[in-house]
Amino acid sequence: MIRIVGSHLYIGEYLAEDLAERFGTPLYVYDKEVIVENYLRLARSIPYEDLEILYSCKANNNPEILATLRDLGSGLDVVSPFEALLGIRLGFPREKILFTGTSVSDDEMKFVRGELGVMINIDSLSQLKRYGRLFPGTEVSVRINPGVGAGHHGYAVTGGVTKFGVYLNQIEKIRDIAREFGLRIVGLHMHIGSGILDANVYRETLDVLLSVARRFSGLEFIDIGGGLGIPYKPGEKPIDLDQFGSIVSKALRDFSQSHGHVKLRIEPGRYIVGNAGVLLVRVVDIKEVEINNSRKIFVGVDSGMNHLIRPALYGSYHEVIPASKADKPKEILVDIVGDICESGDILALERPMPRLEEGDLLAIMDVGAYGYSMSSNYNLRPRPPEIMVFRDEVKLVRRRETFDDLIRLVTNRSI
Ligand SMILES: Cc1ncc(COP(=O)(O)O)c(C=O)c1O
Repeated sequence: MIRIVGSHLYIGEYLAEDLAERFGTPLYVYDKEVIVENYLRLARSIPYEDLEILYSCKANNNPEILATLRDLGSGLDVVSPFEALLGIRLGFPREKILFTGTSVSDDEMKFVRGELGVMINIDSLSQLKRYGRLFPGTEVSVRINPGVGAGHHGYAVTGGVTKFGVYLNQIEKIRDIAREFGLRIVGLHMHIGSGILDANVYRETLDVLLSVARRFSGLEFIDIGGGLGIPYKPGEKPIDLDQFGSIVSKALRDFSQSHGHVKLRIEPGRYIVGNAGVLLVRVVDIKEVEINNSRKIFVGVDSGMNHLIRPALYGSYHEVIPASKADKPKEILVDIVGDICESGDILALERPMPRLEEGDLLAIMDVGAYGYSMSSNYNLRPRPPEIMVFRDEVKLVRRRETFDDLIRLVTNRSI
């Protein structure tokens, strides 16, 4: 559980300040209990009898998180050959892994399907043809673009006029190509975007997907992708899970009754891990300036867009909590900025804060999804360690990178 008690932030049974002291900052902290609760809540909210959750590991591929979800029975949505390999190495059954790539080469398909034996979810007619030539007579799934999408930002919308999926006016061609190569289309898939807080969006798009599915026989699963959002801003309403569960369950039951039984697959990423992660950063430099008779305060921290790119890339909001002054009156307005040489390296804009000092610890909240997994070594800065808390246990699940790690990574030699 992640909570504030008095002026202090706790993760599990640990004071955030103690974790920062012990492991150093910047530091990614995950709460395993929150991940498990999110997974079980989502599973419980969908009454459809034959449900398989494929956790979308692009959201966070920390092996400890993956192992936690594997032990809960989750499968895996993967979007790159190495994500597929990671899933196999961690013991996910290959039949519970689905590879949904974009701009996929023949070599990638040879590796994923040929070497790993993982099913491919096809993204284009060209890919389907190339797949047919490589693996005639096999089972495959196809991603349909239902023509409508949604998401927290334009870059996170994948349905509609985007590069993703086979378009609705190309459906007949899927059948032609499948016939030519003796392919069995066993799954149809959609993923319409990420960060969706209105469950109704799934009603409309699932209707479209199922109307496409009625044109196929022999389907074994319908995969509706991920996209379930989480509230980031105070006051934002969470997605109505019961409504989501009943929309998809009803649609799938109707389909199964009239068209034959299919498994329902969903591919949540953000919903499972988003609110389970906190990035602890230390204030290292405070700059106060007068501009046009008003005061501007930049609070510089020992992290930045290299560790959490969502604010810079999408303008995303992440709540920031002063980890030992959480209940102090908010007296100042600050921009929280990072240590990367870019003006866009802003973690939070115009936030009311209590008086801050250099050395204070800040907790950037809800960074479990698309935090570490989108991080980089820009400016030749190492990535922070990741730790996993479970009630009164804590363990280091990825160590802090070193200079040698970075140099070996880019030059394959030591300097
Ligand atoms: C194919 C596919 N499935 C699932 C997801 C997971 O999305 P989310 O984290 O919003 O649930 C994504 C993310 O972009 C995706 O591309």
